[in-house]
Order: sequence, then structure tokens, then C-alpha cells
Amino acid sequence: VYLVSELLRQKGSSVHTIAPEATALEAASLMNQHRIGSLMVVAGGRPTGIVTERDMLTRVVAAKRDPATTPVQEIMTGRILTCTPQTSLDEVRKAMREHRIRHIPVIDQGKLAGMISIGDVNSADHQTLVETISYLEAYITH
Ligand SMILES: NC(=O)c1ccc[n+]([C@@H]2O[C@H](COP(=O)([O-])OP(=O)(O)OC[C@H]3O[C@@H](n4cnc5c(N)ncnc54)[C@H](O)[C@@H]3O)[C@@H](O)[C@H]2O)c1
Repeated sequence: VYLVSELLRQKGSSVHTIAPEATALEAASLMNQHRIGSLMVVAGGRPTGIVTERDMLTRVVAAKRDPATTPVQEIMTGRILTCTPQTSLDEVRKAMREHRIRHIPVIDQGKLAGMISIGDVNSADHQTLVETISYLEAYITH
């Protein structure tokens, strides 16, 4: 797996979203329900930000804000780093490392086309390593 498009073919391209007016509590419930660590914030069909577990920790819990009354738009990250289906996993990994982020939304021709997490990248790397090892073993034994 070398490209984001290949990873999405395995993982799927659906993205869990939430509205900016929704509360932090609703965001937390959605993340728990789907067992995910991020939600794309979408307004009028357009991505306007991302809200993650980290935002919950730093901007709600540690900031002593009430999750039931704090809107998502006040805790989300508005300037998002995105990639496209043609982006290589090497670039995604580098971007995650350099910007210390764990989720990168995929945009294809202006539209939301998927979500890649650090776990997805690790899992793809693992798969590649296993394939390389079995190839090398076959090479040695023949
Ligand atoms: N294939 C795998 O085995 C695999 C893949 C990813 C994560 N994980 C494990 O899950 C745990 C947490 O993973 P993480 O830190 O990568 O973050 P995470 O909990 O946000 O990601 C878990 C999965 O949910 C997906 N996801 C997250 N937000 C999404 C959204 N808004 N819309 C659609 N999909 C979304 C991710 O792409 C990933 O596949 C880790 O223990 C990790 O190892 C396993």
C-alpha cells in the first residue's frame, strides 16, 4: 500500500461528521459510539474543521468547560491539513510527524473522500513489512 487511494479501498471512504453547533458532549458520544478519535466538522456540506480526542482533553476537560453547553465550533481546529487520494503514505506519515497530528482528511476534487488516522498508516506499514518478509523467506528457501 503506497497511496492514500489504496488505503481507502481497504478501509472505506465514509467519514463521520458533526455540525459546528453540536455540543462537545454530542461529539464525545458519537466518537464513543463509532469507536473513533475524530469527527469532521461540516457546515452546509463543506468541511470547516476537525474535532479530536485531543481537543476534548485540552479545550474542554483541562479548560474546565461544560461539555453539554460548549459548541463544537469553539473547540475544533479550523485550519486543517488535508491530503488527496493521490498522496503517498510516505507524505502522510511525514505530515503527521512534523505537525504532530493523528488524523488527516482526504479531499478529492473539493469533496470529502475519506479519513486517514495514524493507526491506518501503521497498519498499512505492518502489512507491507509482513509481505516483504514472506517474499524474502521464499527467496531464501528457493
Ligand atoms: N487496521 C487496524 O488494525 C487499525 C487501524 C486504525 C487504528 N487502529 C487502532 O485503533 C486505535 C486508535 O487509532 P488511531 O490513533 O489511529 O485513531 P482513531 O481511534 O481515530 O482511529 C480508529 C479508526 O477510525 C477511523 N476514523 C477516525 N475518525 C474517523 C472519521 N471521522 N470518519 C471515518 N473514520 C474515522 C480511522 O481512520 C481508523 O481506521 C489504536 O490502538 C490503533 O492501533 C487499528
